[in-house]
Amino acid sequence: MFDVEFARAHFPALTDDWALFDNAGGTPPLGGVIDRIRDYASRWQVQLGATYQHSAAAAALVAEGRRAMARLVNAEPDEIVLGPSSTANVRVLSRALRPLLSTGDEVVVTNLDHETNIGAWRELENESVRIREWRFDPERLELTLEGLEPLLGARTRLVCFTHCSNIVGTIHDAAAIIRRAHEAGALTCVDGVAYAPHRRVDVKALDADFYFLSPYKVYGPHLGMLYGKRRLLRELRGQNHFFIPEGEVPSKFEPGGVVHELAAALPAILDYLLALDERHFAAAPCPKRSGSSGSSTRSPGTRRRWPRRCSSSSVSAGACASSAAPRPTRPSAHRRSRSSWTDGIRARSPRAWTRRGSRSATAISMRTARSLRSGCCRGTGWCGRAWCTTTRRRRSGA
Ligand SMILES: Cc1ncc(COP(=O)(O)O)c(C=O)c1O
Repeated sequence: MFDVEFARAHFPALTDDWALFDNAGGTPPLGGVIDRIRDYASRWQVQLGATYQHSAAAAALVAEGRRAMARLVNAEPDEIVLGPSSTANVRVLSRALRPLLSTGDEVVVTNLDHETNIGAWRELENESVRIREWRFDPERLELTLEGLEPLLGARTRLVCFTHCSNIVGTIHDAAAIIRRAHEAGALTCVDGVAYAPHRRVDVKALDADFYFLSPYKVYGPHLGMLYGKRRLLRELRGQNHFFIPEGEVPSKFEPGGVVHELAAALPAILDYLLALDERHFAAAPCPKRSGSSGSSTRSPGTRRRWPRRCSSSSVSAGACASSAAPRPTRPSAHRRSRSSWTDGIRARSPRAWTRRGSRSATAISMRTARSLRSGCCRGTGWCGRAWCTTTRRRRSGA
């Protein structure tokens, strides 16, 4: 039986007489989220990335938030982009993908998605990209593979669809849709905003190329989270300051940086889910230690939602390795065809700025101002002078 009182005690907003049914407004935040925001704002209002102690400590807290999100969806931290909302993240993604698309390329959007996963893509139509609409089946209230089939063709580059409809509640077989899109040589962008509050997300098992959700609908702070496969994030065009190198993933997709105190609050979501798991499944031995498959230890009718930790009580210590999702082993016909249209991006990218030696934002700004005045990049490579190009190569170790 689900322990309602145990769960309720984690949410300060549920201690008065109000029941908050404003679903679109998100879930009430966890007490742990509120505490972490307060703690961060009380102590760590500093610039990240410097060498002094406070800056390093603050950066570690923000990094912990990114790691928590990565673990939540079974990804790596550098595959997690944090932004103010899912809507903002998808806009950034569509701008970053734009240089990959040529005239006549096609993007599939649905008529069952939230505007977030439609509008940003429809805007590409102005750039001679053709938008195809995948309409849901009005009888079954779902997006079907039969409905997708006639839309897939040699020019299909991207299929955007929702994992769970926020209108009718249908949960789609995202893995099957992604598989079909990949066979057709297309990438996928999956909206998991309405799915993530109810089910565990595993981007690797799905083999999703891009997957987004909103932590504020999963008991967290008002943020958006976008997963992207590392290879793709590296190839897409950065959307941050021009001096952020193209190799800096994921920060090149986080214009102006993340909201520090909100990012630092993200581990509380994981704490809560692990606490729920502990509460309800503590009796189940770790499948690896016991040598069993794990399923036999569950009582009938219950479904384990979250992998238990094997040994450590630290959230960042990682889940039981035996319960990690299997890596996709699908062979690579679709991979080959996909790379055929993503490969060109490097050639078309502007020269990356490599300023790893810069100590501070002020130093960068002063150097930038000097560079722009003189028309020479002073060793970052964009002005094309031989000395600068060689210096850039030397600095980046190429
Ligand atoms: C299914 C779905 N996708 C996307 C969004 C947009 O999310 P955000 O508010 O983080 O931009 C919402 C918001 O309600 C949603 O329900």
